[in-house]
Amino acid sequence: MTSKTAAPSTALQSSEKRFLKALRGEPTDRPPIWLMRQAGRYLPEYKERRAVAGSFLDLCYTPEHAIEVTLQPIRRFGFDASILFSDILVIPDALGQPVRFEEGIGPVLEPITTAAQIDALDGDRVLDHLMPVFKTVSGLRAALPDETALIGFAGAPWTVATYMVGGRGSPDQGAAKALGYNEPETFQRLIDLLTEVTGDYLIAQVVAGAEALQIFDTWAGSLPAPYFRKWCLEPMRRLRARLADQCPNVPVIGFPKGVGASYETYIRETGINAISIDTGVDPAWAAKVLQPLGTVQGNLDPLALVAGGETMRESALHILDTLGHGPFVFNLGHGIVPHTPPEHVGELVELVKEWKP
Ligand code: CP3
Repeated sequence: MTSKTAAPSTALQSSEKRFLKALRGEPTDRPPIWLMRQAGRYLPEYKERRAVAGSFLDLCYTPEHAIEVTLQPIRRFGFDASILFSDILVIPDALGQPVRFEEGIGPVLEPITTAAQIDALDGDRVLDHLMPVFKTVSGLRAALPDETALIGFAGAPWTVATYMVGGRGSPDQGAAKALGYNEPETFQRLIDLLTEVTGDYLIAQVVAGAEALQIFDTWAGSLPAPYFRKWCLEPMRRLRARLADQCPNVPVIGFPKGVGASYETYIRETGINAISIDTGVDPAWAAKVLQPLGTVQGNLDPLALVAGGETMRESALHILDTLGHGPFVFNLGHGIVPHTPPEHVGELVELVKEWKP
């Protein structure tokens, strides 16, 4: 895609939305809040719609259903941002490596481990295959309340590659590491292909109406420094440069989960606007080291949200008091877990909305 993009206009200009102001580092009346996996199995209305849709991918690929489940948490809790309902693994599915989601296992794919299999993947069919996702994005822009920003997303090349090579989730990403360590050139071809098609995919989401983008690198923290640089940092730098060229006004949030002190290198070297930090990062360190470089998003423990009560209140207030004075977006350190009581989410949103900088 070569032309520059402009998002469709709505009653409230995108530029005035609290979430987008925070991503640009502008002052806001209070910190914006949204939660990773805010649509999902902790909501009874999600489970109902999921049952109607059939498979998980049917839910992602049917705009009517995907729009509905994206809106469910917005109606209930009034978050400042909504995230497109889809999954990071629609990319392998679109490349011709079919994905299915199995109860109790998660995603299952036929593993790709040879150069010939990588060369057989077809980057040219990705945008056509994902047309329903773009319809969902434009439908959401029309349906969302004026003040609610719309986030598009994708998985980072390394994290998506771990599922493509391993065929499913694994505790140590062993299969992807084996291919990367034993056949570095073959593995690099996969990373390069993913970097290219992920750029196409994110740009098309912006054309359809996404106002900010988040890139999830869930397994970045399992790599030794030189490989983190090669398979996470460098692809993200290229991706960010392409987005800056094609959609310069759209802020980008990176989430290289579990990388510790390398969060600093990541935000410095990739040029992203904001960084989402996991639960293990000390908010005081993030305020001192990361906030001068960009907006920080995070990092309540999803299990403190399950616990609720004083634990949740104290944990949330500690984060707000430490990070809430700089450019900040309240979020979790990782996604909401299915056994989260929805009432706790309601209490958390109230607490953040009442907190004053
Ligand atoms: O509300 C939202 O956050 C938007 C939708 C969203 C989903 N997945 C929906 C989903 C987003 C942003 C994701 C990202 C995603 N998907 C990541 C990166 C973030 C993270 O959580 O680390 C990863 C690694 C995946 C891959 C994936 N999808 C796995 C490993 C699983 C199975 C585990 C699980 O939680 O069930 C999924 C399935 C999935 N994606 C569900 C949802 C709501 C549950 C599926 C169901 O309803 O049965």
